[in-house]
Amino acid sequence: MSFTAYQTFIYSWMLLGAAVFIYLCFKPAPYGRHLDKNWGPAIPNKWGWFIMETTVLVALFANLLPYIDWMTLPCLVMVGLFCLHYVNRAFVFPFRMKTQGKRMPILTVGSAILFNTINGSLLGLWFSRFADYPDSWLTQPRFLIGVILFAAGFTINLWSDGKLFALRKKGDTGYYIPYGGLYRVISSPNLFGEIIEWTGFALLTWSLPALAFLVWTLANLAPRALANQRWYRAQFPDYPTQRKILFPFIW
Ligand SMILES: NC(=O)c1ccc[n+]([C@@H]2O[C@H](COP(=O)([O-])OP(=O)(O)OC[C@H]3O[C@@H](n4cnc5c(N)ncnc54)[C@H](OP(=O)(O)O)[C@@H]3O)[C@@H](O)[C@H]2O)c1
Repeated sequence: MSFTAYQTFIYSWMLLGAAVFIYLCFKPAPYGRHLDKNWGPAIPNKWGWFIMETTVLVALFANLLPYIDWMTLPCLVMVGLFCLHYVNRAFVFPFRMKTQGKRMPILTVGSAILFNTINGSLLGLWFSRFADYPDSWLTQPRFLIGVILFAAGFTINLWSDGKLFALRKKGDTGYYIPYGGLYRVISSPNLFGEIIEWTGFALLTWSLPALAFLVWTLANLAPRALANQRWYRAQFPDYPTQRKILFPFIW
C-alpha cells in the first residue's frame, strides 16, 4: 500500500468516525447499562469483551510480525504501551467485571471487531512500514509529555473501572452511585482516563493513525458519557448535581 493511499484511507476513516459520533449522540451503543434487547441475538458479555478486544492485538501483530526485526527502539516502546492497554482490556478487564448472566448483542461485538481490525491494522502498518523514529525520539518533549499523559490516563481508567467493580458484591448486577476520586467531579472518569490515554499516545507517536484512534475514541466515549449522565440522573434522584459529564469543571 502506498503512503498516499494509506493517508487517504485514514482521512476517510476519521470522517466516518465523525458520522458515528452524530449517530451515537442519538442512540447509545447497545451494551452494559444501555443494552437494547432489540439488537438481536447476544452472547455472554465477558466473552464479547474478550473476543472484540483481542482482535486489535491480532490485527496489530499480523502487520508487525514480518517486520519486527527492523523496528527501532521507539517503535517497540510505543507498541509496548499500546499492548499494555489492550492486554488489560482483553484479558483482565472482562474477568474483573461483575456482570454474571449479562449479555452483549452479536452486532455490537461484530462492529467492535470491525473497528478493532481496522484500528490495529492502521497502527501495525504505521509502525512496520511507514514510521521512522530515531532513538533520539525517546528524549523529545512530545514523547515524554505523551508518556506522562498515557500513564496518567491508564491509571485513571484502571482505577475508575475498579471502583465500579467494587460497587457490586459477588453475584450482584445492580447499579449504585460511585463516590471518591474523580467521581467527585465527573460521572464517567473511566472514559475520561481512556481519552487522556489516547491523547498521550497521539502525542508520543505524533502520527496520523494514532490521531484517528483518538478521534474515534472521542466519537465513541463523549456520547456514551452524556448518556451515562442522563441515565444516572434518571435512576437516582439523589445523584450529585455538581458532577460534570466527562471533563472535570468543563463539561
Ligand atoms: N476506546 C474506546 O473507544 C472505548 C469504547 C468503549 C469502551 N471503552 C472502555 O471500556 C471500558 C468499559 O466501558 P463501558 O462503557 O462498559 O463502561 P461502564 O459503563 O462504566 O461499565 C464498566 C463496568 O462497570 C459496571 N458499572 C458501570 N456503572 C456502574 C454502577 N453505577 N454501579 C455498578 N456497576 C457499574 C458495568 O456493568 P454493566 O456491564 O452491568 O453495566 C461494567 O462492568 C472503559 O474503561 C472504557 O474506557 C473504550
